[in-house]
Amino acid sequence: MRENRLKESRLSYESLYRQAQSDPETFWGERAKEIEWYSFPERILDQDADGAWRWFSGGTLNTCNLALDRHVAAGRGDQVALIYDSPVTGQIRKFTFAQMTEWTARVAGALRGLGVDTGDRVILYMPMVPEAVVAMLACARIGAIHSVVFGGFAPPELATRIDDAEPKVLLTASCGIEFDRIIPYKPLVDAGLEQARHKVASVVVLQRPQCAVQLSHPRELDWSAWERAATPAPCVPVRSTDPLYILYTSGTTGKPKGVVRDNGGHAVALHWSMQAIYGVDAGDVFWAASDVGWVVGHSYIAYGPLLRGCTSVMYEGKPVRTPDAGALWRVIAEHQVKSFFIAPTAFRAVKKEDPDCLLQSNYDISCLKYQFVAGERLDPPTYDWLVQHLPGVPVIDHWWQTETGWSICANLAGVELLEPKSGSVALPVPGFDLRVFDEQGHEVGPNQEGAVVLKGPLPPGSFPTLWRDHSRFVEAYWSRYPGFYLTGDGGYRDEDGYVFIMGRIDDVINVAGHRLSTGEMEEVVAAHPAVAECAVFGAADADKGQVPLALVVLKDGQNIDATALQTELVQMVRERIGALANFKRALVVKRLPKTRSGKILRQTLRKMVDGQPWNMPSTIDDPAILDEITAVLRTR
Ligand code: COA
Ligand code: AMP
Repeated sequence: MRENRLKESRLSYESLYRQAQSDPETFWGERAKEIEWYSFPERILDQDADGAWRWFSGGTLNTCNLALDRHVAAGRGDQVALIYDSPVTGQIRKFTFAQMTEWTARVAGALRGLGVDTGDRVILYMPMVPEAVVAMLACARIGAIHSVVFGGFAPPELATRIDDAEPKVLLTASCGIEFDRIIPYKPLVDAGLEQARHKVASVVVLQRPQCAVQLSHPRELDWSAWERAATPAPCVPVRSTDPLYILYTSGTTGKPKGVVRDNGGHAVALHWSMQAIYGVDAGDVFWAASDVGWVVGHSYIAYGPLLRGCTSVMYEGKPVRTPDAGALWRVIAEHQVKSFFIAPTAFRAVKKEDPDCLLQSNYDISCLKYQFVAGERLDPPTYDWLVQHLPGVPVIDHWWQTETGWSICANLAGVELLEPKSGSVALPVPGFDLRVFDEQGHEVGPNQEGAVVLKGPLPPGSFPTLWRDHSRFVEAYWSRYPGFYLTGDGGYRDEDGYVFIMGRIDDVINVAGHRLSTGEMEEVVAAHPAVAECAVFGAADADKGQVPLALVVLKDGQNIDATALQTELVQMVRERIGALANFKRALVVKRLPKTRSGKILRQTLRKMVDGQPWNMPSTIDDPAILDEITAVLRTR
């Protein structure tokens, strides 16, 4: 019976998926006609000189026009485009499409006034304020490339991004607000600029009343005066393949990867995704409770909802303690959110403080039609809790990455809702050809775990390259299994084709929905003068999903106290990467287990740290070392 229902409900999804597979150019060509172009693409899909797949070559458009001006022209000027809901400052402000257009044109003009031209880079180090979205759109308006750096990153991270992107201008604010804590940004920005080799010509600071700063350097400008003095700038046509933004994401080393997003593919994919995946259309209210510093914030706070003519909610608060664990329900009810998207870790925080979800009864959330989660694995207890407390609302786990920019697997709310399966991210979204490979690159059968890969070309919206590093793009993503994109995630498909994502198979971890590199943490820990070598892994954590844990070997003759060492290492990681790493534990061990050829047995260690079953590797040089590590891990 259940089997039959499953098969029946898949008909429409399946026909759409097959269409996208058998004739991608017609499928995406049709989707491209749904947005406005200054000149329609000459080719739907082709390859550039580097061999990278490119969508919609020859087309010209402007992403800001699609997100704002065109809605005003179509008579939606008075509709609210952005709701800024900020419990940490006690404000709710609403901006119509007409107001957003006018504001963005002014900021675009102000950027022009600083010499920012098409193709120039602008870095944003901003908290969750509407100026951040306006600045992103303002860059798009004049063809400049924005690169948003998450406000929780420490100065060295900012410096690395400044040196890679080489921006003309840096936009920031005087502070961010974490719960009730003011985080002054200016000292962080000053340190980042100081540490960077590249010299940024202008720094514009949004003064927030919670923390006014002194502007003394000749390159510094006050945001409101800067904006007031500007002449509004119109939208300029850009090529479909021109970059819209660079978003740095953690790789396996200390050097983050500059994921490039183009204008055309991005606009077409996100416009379609709002309706097909999230089940919303123009006039509906959509809320992605993420941060503009992450890909979810780019795609589904700033761009996707506005491209579709939806109202987007921008929330400067937390799921708990702003003021309580009813905050999410309050926002949904107050702004009549139809489709809501958040990371599971946020619901775990709510569940911890309000296990029976009692605070929900203070609000009428009957407006909510779909609940989406992503960013990390949705653990079954959290899924069950959500299903229990959101009766009649489908809880949809969907899987995606900074690199793809939108969802690879999902249950398409706007096409046809399939029967969900706990622990699964459902089926591949049309355009993604997903396979599960073994070590040798052979496809594995149902329920067998392996590397999850995607056959090229990836659909529109996915990254065509890494910023000024195409060889790394090829090497990191396309060389392991030629012709297939390596997602870095492991998982399997069941007998119905449902996909289960089980976690990363590389040195990337997800901490409270934040993507971080253990390789980078190792570089920081290894720099401590007492440390001979180290390895950092993600350990399962009931609240944050994963937290990093370091195993450290001391240099001969070092007898530093283990607690003192841990305190110093924690401080080093906070200063170099940021508090968001949640790096709190470093355990001293005598040796790290290695193969006879000297390679650290990371796979085994990863499993041990994570509390998963593991087998004694046949290649290990000294099996006794694993007993010692087991004993040390028991002490944590
Ligand atoms: N600016 C400055 N510091 C920040 C920061 C920011 N934007 N974000 C996090 N931090 C700091 C926190 O203040 C905390 O510092 P502390 O160790 O001094 O207390 C540290 O980083 C760890 O933060 P976090 O792990 O986020 O814990 P939290 O208790 O502050 O918040 C959640 C818990 C669940 C509310 C939060 O992690 C969350 O909302 N996560 C979802 C992330 C997300 O949306 N990801 C996108 C994928 S969809
Ligand atoms: P980011 O690039 O920050 O979006 O992080 C992408 C990574 O987050 C993926 O490679 C996965 O490891 C993880 N991830 C995202 N969504 C999910 C999901 N729904 N289930 C499991 N893991 C996920």
